[in-house]
Amino acid sequence: MTTVPKFVIGNWKMQARHEYGLELARGVAQGLRDNPPPSRLHTILCPPFTQLAGVHSELDEIGLPNEQLALGAQDCYPAASGPFTGDISPQMIKALGASYVILGHSERRQNHGETDAVIRQKVKAATAAGVTPIVCIGEHLAERNEGRAASVLASQIEGSLTRGFRGIVAYEPVWAIGSGITPSHEELQRKLTLIRALLPMRLMTDDIRVPVLYGGSVTSVQAPSIMSIEAVDGVLVGSASLEAQSFLDIITAAAEATTPQLTS
Ligand code: PGA
Repeated sequence: MTTVPKFVIGNWKMQARHEYGLELARGVAQGLRDNPPPSRLHTILCPPFTQLAGVHSELDEIGLPNEQLALGAQDCYPAASGPFTGDISPQMIKALGASYVILGHSERRQNHGETDAVIRQKVKAATAAGVTPIVCIGEHLAERNEGRAASVLASQIEGSLTRGFRGIVAYEPVWAIGSGITPSHEELQRKLTLIRALLPMRLMTDDIRVPVLYGGSVTSVQAPSIMSIEAVDGVLVGSASLEAQSFLDIITAAAEATTPQLTS
């Protein structure tokens, strides 16, 4: 079993417009430079497409290594180029300095009708372009209440991950996103253990530990307890990533919660 780094990922969504986004990126980068977390805690900023180049040059200026602070996009089209009006290819985001891409977020599944099959194509295209996919999965509240969460997660894993998938999985229960509600410690442990048990069939190996993150209403208050769950390899953060200090507080909490395992 290989060890994996821990991740704190900021998903800005369609927020943090131009000047503010640059200031936010600078604030996070300066905070990490002044107070570096353990080397195996990786931070990734995922601004809107229009901010990728600007944020990249902000990060470049501070000069932290890519493992410490990297750039990601929030989506990509499943082809390298072509007559696809309004779409952005993984090669294009890579050229702007992004080494990660969030795929299959529930807001894209809901608002753009993205199916598991479409997400799988995107995973394939991103991987071929050398961009690491961060694939979101998670059940709706009704599915959870009807006791169908396990089968939903199983079919999302089967449908949206490629065979031999190499990337990151983010468990984001739809009911926890932007609601201020997070699953209990027990529920999170149970769901992540389930996801881990389901993954080897898609990975086609038992030997690779794909990082599995949690996302949904993470703040610096919940981060220490979420990160203390053994099966959790990190957090995907929405609203609380829109302010440099609150995001840095989550990174600090994650660093503290993971330090004993990271240094053992
Ligand atoms: P939230 O969003 O932290 O604002 O709940 C998380 C996400 O959607 O990735």
